[in-house]
Amino acid sequence: MNELKTLTLRRPDDFHLHLRDGEYLAAVLPFTARQFARAVVMPNLKPPVTTVELAGAYRQRILAALPGAQHFEPLMTLYLTNNTTPAEVRKARDCGFIVGCKLYPAGATTHSDAGVTAIEKISPALEAMQECDLVLQVHGEATQSDVDVFDREAIFIDRTLSILTERFPALKIVFEHVTTRQAVEFVQQARAGVAATITPQHLLHNRNAIFQNGIRPHYYCLPVLKREADRQALLTAATSDNPRFFLGTDSAPHAQHTKETECGCAGMFSAHAALELYAEAFEQAGRLDRLEAFASERGADFYGLPRNAGHVELERVNWVPPKHYQFGKDQLVPMRAGETISWRFRSEQPA
Ligand code: NCD
Ligand code: ZN
Repeated sequence: MNELKTLTLRRPDDFHLHLRDGEYLAAVLPFTARQFARAVVMPNLKPPVTTVELAGAYRQRILAALPGAQHFEPLMTLYLTNNTTPAEVRKARDCGFIVGCKLYPAGATTHSDAGVTAIEKISPALEAMQECDLVLQVHGEATQSDVDVFDREAIFIDRTLSILTERFPALKIVFEHVTTRQAVEFVQQARAGVAATITPQHLLHNRNAIFQNGIRPHYYCLPVLKREADRQALLTAATSDNPRFFLGTDSAPHAQHTKETECGCAGMFSAHAALELYAEAFEQAGRLDRLEAFASERGADFYGLPRNAGHVELERVNWVPPKHYQFGKDQLVPMRAGETISWRFRSEQPA
């Protein structure tokens, strides 16, 4: 059989992305804008993006940081806190550039100390989101100290998410960066209006990657990588024809010295090779034909956005990402640094 040499896709979107701010933003934004037409930009800045005003200002900084010729639409989301009001939610709906609100359980991940301490606290905001048709994006991990780090996602489903989906039956919910078989099964069986994003690292790696001949901080992200059986379940879901699973890279850049240290940050940077990494995963499953639906159709459909015009192309060419990219005054170690990737992003094709 002839090996496929090029792959043409409708221009894709990234439904879960960390862009940071200032010189870090300027350093990483071009990678995403090159491949994706739009991205949901996560609001976990310090301080977090909790109001429409802050989101509008952040959006302007993103647009200002875009290299001249690139077209890219940041889709903004508000960071939910115990104090988010229904009035702010309605304002978010009316502003036209906010697509949802992000739920970070307090203490779950990078910059989540302002997060929600109990679902009851945000019931009024969730009611308003349901009325306004805004999407709830959920970081689904239980943060109680007695919960094992590898069980955080499964326990969150039982203790919180299953209740939330029933208590707000018309709320659109994205279970972000799912990592376990339990999460896949939950999303498959949930009511209409529940979907999930999947990252490239969780499709390509299991938790052994963190401990390969020593401790590997660049494979540490949250939710943490899981077992091989979980990876297989994610790969099967992503490459199935189920419209509930779509692309969200969770590309999360951190300066090299903040990861290679005694208490390293969580997050993997994949924006430099996002589509290529997904292509490798889909090829592993023998389902390159499903990549376009996953990357360019299902997410837009779920969010009620038009699918993008224009196309992008990947070619089967080996290339090696550098050991690091410049990241403001710091350095950033990308996924697959110094190692071969077997697909390469070529260009944006005219619409
Ligand atoms: C993200 C970050 O660094 O902002 N880190 C990560 O490991 N994914 C936060 C997050 O999405 O949990
Ligand atoms: Zn994230």
